[in-house]
Amino acid sequence: MTKPVILTGLRANNDLHIGNYFGALLPFIDMAKTKADDYQLDLFVPDLHSFTTPIDHSKLQQQIMHNLKLFVAAGLPLNSDNIRIYRQSYIPAHSELTWILDCFTGFGEMSRMTQFKDKSSGLGAERVTVGLFNYPVLMAADILLYGATYVPVGDDQTQHLEFARDIAERMNNKFGELFVVPKPVKDQNAFFGKDQGLRIKDLVEPTKKMSKSDDTGKGVIFLGDTPDVAAKKVMSATTDSEGVVRFDTAKQPGIANLLQILALARGEDLSSVIDHYDGQTSYGALKTAVAEAVVDLLGDFQARMELIDENDLLAKLEHDEAIMNATANKTLLQVQKAVGLRA
Ligand code: TRP
Repeated sequence: MTKPVILTGLRANNDLHIGNYFGALLPFIDMAKTKADDYQLDLFVPDLHSFTTPIDHSKLQQQIMHNLKLFVAAGLPLNSDNIRIYRQSYIPAHSELTWILDCFTGFGEMSRMTQFKDKSSGLGAERVTVGLFNYPVLMAADILLYGATYVPVGDDQTQHLEFARDIAERMNNKFGELFVVPKPVKDQNAFFGKDQGLRIKDLVEPTKKMSKSDDTGKGVIFLGDTPDVAAKKVMSATTDSEGVVRFDTAKQPGIANLLQILALARGEDLSSVIDHYDGQTSYGALKTAVAEAVVDLLGDFQARMELIDENDLLAKLEHDEAIMNATANKTLLQVQKAVGLRA
């Protein structure tokens, strides 16, 4: 009778931009809301994952709360019992299960993880931490403690998800049915209807997707940008010399991107936005409209951030963390018994 579990770690940070917002955050929250009746949704901040590479520890606490507020401001409900929100480090079983799984995980297996190879390649051997190395094991523990079936993650995490499946099967084969094995990646993608192809492009280089690693930041609209800054970025967006508004992503990528952003920021259909501007012979009106829509969007979002009552959020966290501890400890006890740590 228990509902299947959808679980994910909510990694977000201060410099989220509108590409992340429309491409990841909103679709994710929509998913959470639409599935909440039929599934148990477990959403957590993977705080123990935050310093596998060096960070400023004096900022971590504030960052964790900020991350959670971003999700709430984007519409994540705090009043649903079908959606649990928690901080990983408040549930000690994550760390304990990780140690046990570590002892059944191959060194070679972890060495093959592409994300580990990518992240560690620039660093000297002394700076590559063991935490970075075995972080997929912690991620597996995150998933297996709660018997999650579906785990929405980005493409960079699919190898880690495959590892979670492998270690679950390995433990089950050795010790009997301990863990629910998450669905394979292809089933996950089918379930989440992944990738509707929505990609907001950089305003300066509209053939590239908007990305926070763009160091100038001129083509990127951050959720924290002031109205002034955001409007200026829109007004100086790269267009073309065609001189007519058309939705043509190949020939007029800048204009197509502006039309796309306008539709999303206003919450209108792309086709009706296109109908309205198609054939106009000046780009000024379109740019002004986009700037206004973006300023409204950021204004609303920032106002919602301000309104969030931190006490409500903390109450929800503490309530859910108590429940998650109970569930996680049950799984952990089964594992402890299986490996002979408990009678
Ligand atoms: N590693 C994920 C990321 O970088 C975050 C994460 C941690 C996660 N633990 C998880 C995601 C468990 C899904 C399930 O995005």
